[in-house]
Amino acid sequence: MKIILTLSIFLICFLQLGQSIIDPSQKDVMSDLLFNMYGYSKGLDPCDNSAYVICDYINSTSTFKTVKELHLGTPLQEYVITQDLSPLQNLTYLQLNYNNIYLSSSFFNYVNKFSQLLRIYLGSYNETIPDDTIFPASLESFLIYNPSAPLGRAIFESTIKNIFIYSPLTGFSYPTLINVNPYLEYLALPVTFYSGFPSNISRVFTNLNKLEIRVFNDMNENNYKNFSISNIGVFKNLKGLDFEFNDGDNSQELYIHSFLSNVPFINYIYIYGLGATIDPSAGILDLSYIKADNNFELEIDSSSILNNCKGTCIKFPKYSSFNSYYCAFSYNAIDFSNLVYFKDLYNEHEQNLPNIDNAPLLDEIYISYSVVVGDIPESYCRLNKLNLRNNELDGTVPSCIQCLGGVKGGDIVLPNPLLNFNKTSEPYCPNFKIDQNYTNLVATDGTGKIIITGTNLGWDGNGLTPIIANSKLAITIPKGVGTNKSINVTFQNGELRTFNYSYIPPFIKSYAIIELFGQKYFTINGTGFDFNDSNNITINGQQITFFNALGGGDNDGMIELYFIELPNLATESNFTVSALVGGQSSNEVTFYYFNSINITEEKLVLNNTGGSVDINGLFGTNNTSLVSVSINGINCLVTSYTNSKLTIQYPSNQVGDNYVLTLNVGGYAVNLVVEYIEGGETPTPSTTPSTTPSTTPSTTPSITPSTTPSTTPSTTPSSAPTQSPGDDGSTSSTLSISFYLITLLLLTQQLI
Ligand SMILES: *[C@@H]1O[C@H](CO)[C@@H](O)[C@H](O)[C@H]1NC(C)=O
Ligand SMILES: *[C@@H]1O[C@H](CO)[C@@H](O)[C@H](O)[C@H]1NC(C)=O
Ligand SMILES: *[C@@H]1O[C@H](CO)[C@@H](O)[C@H](O)[C@H]1NC(C)=O
Ligand SMILES: *[C@@H]1O[C@H](CO)[C@@H](O)[C@H](O)[C@H]1NC(C)=O
Ligand SMILES: *[C@@H]1O[C@H](CO)[C@@H](O)[C@H](O)[C@H]1NC(C)=O
Ligand SMILES: *[C@@H]1O[C@H](CO)[C@@H](O)[C@H](O)[C@H]1NC(C)=O
Ligand SMILES: *[C@@H]1O[C@H](CO)[C@@H](O)[C@H](O)[C@H]1NC(C)=O
Ligand SMILES: *[C@@H]1O[C@H](CO)[C@@H](O)[C@H](O)[C@H]1NC(C)=O
Ligand SMILES: *[C@@H]1O[C@H](CO)[C@@H](O)[C@H](O)[C@H]1NC(C)=O
Ligand SMILES: *[C@@H]1O[C@H](CO)[C@@H](O)[C@H](O)[C@H]1NC(C)=O
Ligand SMILES: *[C@@H]1O[C@H](CO)[C@@H](O)[C@H](O)[C@H]1NC(C)=O
Ligand SMILES: *[C@@H]1O[C@H](CO)[C@@H](O)[C@H](O)[C@H]1NC(C)=O
Repeated sequence: MKIILTLSIFLICFLQLGQSIIDPSQKDVMSDLLFNMYGYSKGLDPCDNSAYVICDYINSTSTFKTVKELHLGTPLQEYVITQDLSPLQNLTYLQLNYNNIYLSSSFFNYVNKFSQLLRIYLGSYNETIPDDTIFPASLESFLIYNPSAPLGRAIFESTIKNIFIYSPLTGFSYPTLINVNPYLEYLALPVTFYSGFPSNISRVFTNLNKLEIRVFNDMNENNYKNFSISNIGVFKNLKGLDFEFNDGDNSQELYIHSFLSNVPFINYIYIYGLGATIDPSAGILDLSYIKADNNFELEIDSSSILNNCKGTCIKFPKYSSFNSYYCAFSYNAIDFSNLVYFKDLYNEHEQNLPNIDNAPLLDEIYISYSVVVGDIPESYCRLNKLNLRNNELDGTVPSCIQCLGGVKGGDIVLPNPLLNFNKTSEPYCPNFKIDQNYTNLVATDGTGKIIITGTNLGWDGNGLTPIIANSKLAITIPKGVGTNKSINVTFQNGELRTFNYSYIPPFIKSYAIIELFGQKYFTINGTGFDFNDSNNITINGQQITFFNALGGGDNDGMIELYFIELPNLATESNFTVSALVGGQSSNEVTFYYFNSINITEEKLVLNNTGGSVDINGLFGTNNTSLVSVSINGINCLVTSYTNSKLTIQYPSNQVGDNYVLTLNVGGYAVNLVVEYIEGGETPTPSTTPSTTPSTTPSTTPSITPSTTPSTTPSTTPSSAPTQSPGDDGSTSSTLSISFYLITLLLLTQQLI
C-alpha cells in the first residue's frame, strides 16, 4: 500500500515537471512574454512564475490552468508589450507596475475580448488609446501612471467606474469631453500647465462621487504658462472633493471657487498644498448652502487658502467640522457660528485663541502645536471636548481648569507657559455649585438619568456624562424600582455628592397577545415596570405575577405572562388591570378582551403631505368607539371602519422611515412601521418641529497626500461622525428593529 502511494506521488510529480499545465493556447504568448522580459525559461510553466502570474484551473473538471492575473514587475530592460494577449481569455487584472513597461496601443483593439477584466494598471503610457476602443463591461478600474501622450476620449466614454491618472509628463493632455457618462464614480486627475483641464466635468460625469484633482503648478518649470482649473455646472452626486497642489515651490495661485460653489450636496472637501486662493471678487467662501449626509467636513493641510483674507472669509453649513494642519491663517478668517468641531494643528500665525461667543453649536476644540498666546477664555469651559496642549499660551486659565488642578487639568492645557497654572497646581474650585432643582424622578429600565446643572461641575467624573461641560451633566441611574433612593457621585474635581431620586411609578398603556417560538403570551406594555424582578399585576381583582420587564429605552417596557395563566375572559368583555411596583401603584385601566388583533400590511407608505389611507386586518369588533389610531403619538381620524378594514386621515410629516402607527382596539395595541415619502397632492405646511441633530465627529480623518497612491483606491469618505453625548437625556421616538430583535432574544433567554 505504502509503496503504491509513494510510487503514485512520484509519478504525479514526474508528470507535472515534464509537462506544462497552462492552457496550451496561452503557453506561447506567456512564455514569450516572460522570456523576453525576465529571461524566464521557455521550458518552465508560466503559471509557476508566481511572482508575476496568477493562474487558476479553467474549470473544476479541467486539468489546465488559465492566466487570471498579470502583475508584471520591472523587466531586464525597457520593454514594449506588442504580443497579442487575447488568448488570455480569463484575465482579470493587467498590472504593469513599472514605468519601463509600455503597452502597445494595439492592445486596445482587442481589449473587449477580456470579458472578465476588472482592472488595468499602466505604469507608463505613451500611445493614445484609440477613440473607437470598446472596453469590456466588466472593467471597473483604469489606472495610468506617467502619461506622456494625449489621453484620448475612449476611457472617458466607457462604462469604467474608477479612473485614476497620476504623475503626468510632458505630452500629456485631455480630450474635449462632450458625451455624458453616467457610469464614472471616482475620478482622479492631474492638472499641469501643458495638459489644460476639462472644465465641464460636472456636466459630463453626472454620477461622479469622488473627484481628486492634483495640480502641478510650479512656475519654476520651463515654458510654464498660467492656467486655470474651473468647472461649469453643478455636481449632483459628489460626496468628496480633493484638491492637492504639488510641486508648490513657486506656485501660481488658482481659484477653486467654481468647484466649491457648485457642490450643493457634499460630505467632505480636502485641500492640500499651496496654490489655492479665494477669489477676491467673491470675498467670502460661503459654503453654508451645502447639505451633507451627516456633518460636512473641510480639511486643509499646508494650504494658504485662508491666509490673505480681510476679515471673515469662510462660512460653513450647520454642524460642520473643520480640520487644519500646517497652515498659518488667522482665526478671524473663520465664521465659527455653524461649526461643531474645530481642529487646528501646527498653525504658525501668532494670535489669541478664537472667540467662540457666537459659536453655539461648537462642541470640540483641538488646537495644538500652534502659535496661540494669551488667555484661555472662560467661555471654553462649556466645550465638551477641549485640547489645548503644546501651544504658547502665556496668560491665565479659566476657573474650570483651575478646579481640576495641574494633574487632571494638565491633560487639557499643558504644556503651555501659563501664568496661573502648571503641573503642580492644586485643584482650586471655590465656585463649584450644584443647583438643587435637579430631576429626581427616573425611568426604571436603566436609561434613567438625573440631570444636574450648576457651576464648574467638570467634564465627567465617576458616573457622570457631560451634556454641557461644567454646567450640565447627566448621572446615569441603573435599573431599579421604588422611592427614596440615593446615589453617590464623584466629580472630576474630587468632590463627592449624594443625589436623591425615585423611580417613576408604573403606568399601563396597552396589552397584546403574542406568540413567540410556539408559546403564547399575554403581554402588557407601559412604563415604570420592574426590569430586575417579576411584576405584580392585578387583573379583575386577582393578583398575578408577570415576568421581568423587557424592552424599555426608546420603547415601552413590556411584561409577559404565559397565556394559559390568564384568567378566562369572554371576547369583548371588559377587564381591569393595575400594577404595584416597588411599593408604587399604577393607574387602573379598563381594557376589552380580544384573542387577536391583526394588521395585514407589513408596512405603510404614506405621502409627506398627509392624506387618507386604508388599513386591512382583523380588528376583532364592530364597535368603532373602541378603535383609535395614532402615528408617533398623534391621533388620526378614523373615517370609516369595519372589522376587517379601516380608513384613517393621516397627518403630514417629514420624509423618513422611522414612524410608527399604533392601532388600539379596546386596549389591545399593535404597531406598524410607517415610511413617509415625497408625494401627495395638497401640500400643507409641515407642523412637525424640526429636529436638531446632535452629532459631532469624533475621529479625525488623517489623509496623508501621497504622490504615489496606493493601488487600491478607497471609495470610503474619510469622515466618521459619531453620536454626541446626547442633548437632554430625553428619548427619541425612533423604533429600532434591532432593538425589537434584542427584545425577542432576551425574552427567549428569560423564558427558557
Ligand atoms: C475562463 O473563461 C471561460 C470562458 O469564458 C469560462 O468558461 C471559465 O469558467 C473561465 N475560467 C475561470 C477560472 O475564470
Ligand atoms: C472545462 O474546460 C474544458 C476546456 O479546458 C472544456 O472542454 C470543458 O467542457 C469544460 N467543462 C465545463 C464543465 O465547463
Ligand atoms: C513608447 O515608448 C517606447 C519605449 O521607449 C517606444 O519604443 C515607443 O516607440 C514609444 N511610443 C511612442 C508612440 O512614442
Ligand atoms: C506652579 O504654580 C504655582 C502656583 O500655582 C507656583 O507657586 C509654582 O511656583 C509654579 N511652579 C512652577 C514650576 O512654575
Ligand atoms: C435649575 O434652575 C436654574 C435656574 O432657574 C436653571 O437654569 C436650571 O436649568 C435648572 N436645572 C435643572 C436641572 O432643571
Ligand atoms: C454615599 O456616601 C455616604 C458617605 O460616604 C455613605 O454613607 C452612603 O452610604 C453612600 N451612599 C450610597 C448610595 O452609596
Ligand atoms: C405583590 O403584591 C402583594 C400584595 O400587594 C405582596 O404581598 C407581594 O409581596 C408582592 N409580590 C412582589 C413580587 O412584589
Ligand atoms: C410593547 O413593548 C415592546 C417592547 O418594548 C415593543 O417591542 C412593542 O412594540 C410595544 N408594543 C406597542 C403596541 O407599543
Ligand atoms: C364593564 O362591563 C360591565 C358588565 O358587562 C358593565 O357593567 C360596566 O359598566 C363595564 N365597565 C366599563 C368601564 O365599561
Ligand atoms: C392574524 O390573524 C390570523 C387569523 O386570525 C392568524 O392566523 C394570524 O396568526 C394572525 N397573525 C398575527 C401576527 O397575530
Ligand atoms: C360584525 O358585523 C358583521 C355584520 O353585521 C357580523 O357578521 C360580524 O360577526 C360582526 N363581528 C363581530 C366581531 O362582532
Ligand atoms: C399618495 O399620493 C398619490 C398621488 O397623489 C396618491 O395616488 C396616493 O394614493 C397617495 N397615497 C397615500 C397613502 O395617501
